[in-house]
Amino acid sequence: MKQFLLAPSILSADFARLGEDTAKALAAGGDVVHFDVMDNHYVPNLTMGPMVLKALRDYGITAPIDVHLMVKPVDELIPAFAKAGASYITFHPEASQHVDRTLQLIKEHGCKAGLVFNPATPLSYLDYVMDKLDIILLMSVNPGFGGQSFIPGTLDKLRQARRLIDQSGYDIRLEVDGGVKIDNIGQIAAAGADMFVAGSAIFGHPDYKKVIDAMRSELEK
Ligand code: DX5
Ligand code: ZN
Repeated sequence: MKQFLLAPSILSADFARLGEDTAKALAAGGDVVHFDVMDNHYVPNLTMGPMVLKALRDYGITAPIDVHLMVKPVDELIPAFAKAGASYITFHPEASQHVDRTLQLIKEHGCKAGLVFNPATPLSYLDYVMDKLDIILLMSVNPGFGGQSFIPGTLDKLRQARRLIDQSGYDIRLEVDGGVKIDNIGQIAAAGADMFVAGSAIFGHPDYKKVIDAMRSELEK
């Protein structure tokens, strides 16, 4: 298993050429496609649904697709995303009526499951469900938009989450999402993250490979 995974967020890709742009980010060294689903209800923005994910699979994208659900309610969308080809499905616990049931539903549909924590959401949601998690995703911005600045308090929260994962003994990825750049990724990794979402840092640069290579070399330091 790779020690660090880089997940380009296609929220910042060119939506008019989504297949091509996603393939380009993967060819440049991205490991996982981060797919942001926003419903204009849980968050004040509206993005993509299962049809778009299926279109990426049909286009030939074979890399794992990490579906980040910023929707409320959650459960209704899980079967459709699994069928469309999702690999991971993560959701915000406060958006689900029954967190344990939602995690089980994701697993029953053959996907890896995870919980997402907003900057002000306590990690106590983890207390009774560690055994059902493949990923813990900490938001380092408030969800809804790309291109925001990393909230520094996330570093402490990452250290706490890393401790909880290590104590649990389970094999759980610690993902971070929001404001990840070349100049802070090293610090974020040192706090315990091992999966990094980056949208504007990659897609906002003319040379995706240059950014991804620079991020990897920061991670190797
Ligand atoms: C924000 C999304 C992020 C977003 C990150 O709600 O969940 O995945 O694309 O964008 P950057 O990397 O530009 O902060
Ligand atoms: Zn996201």
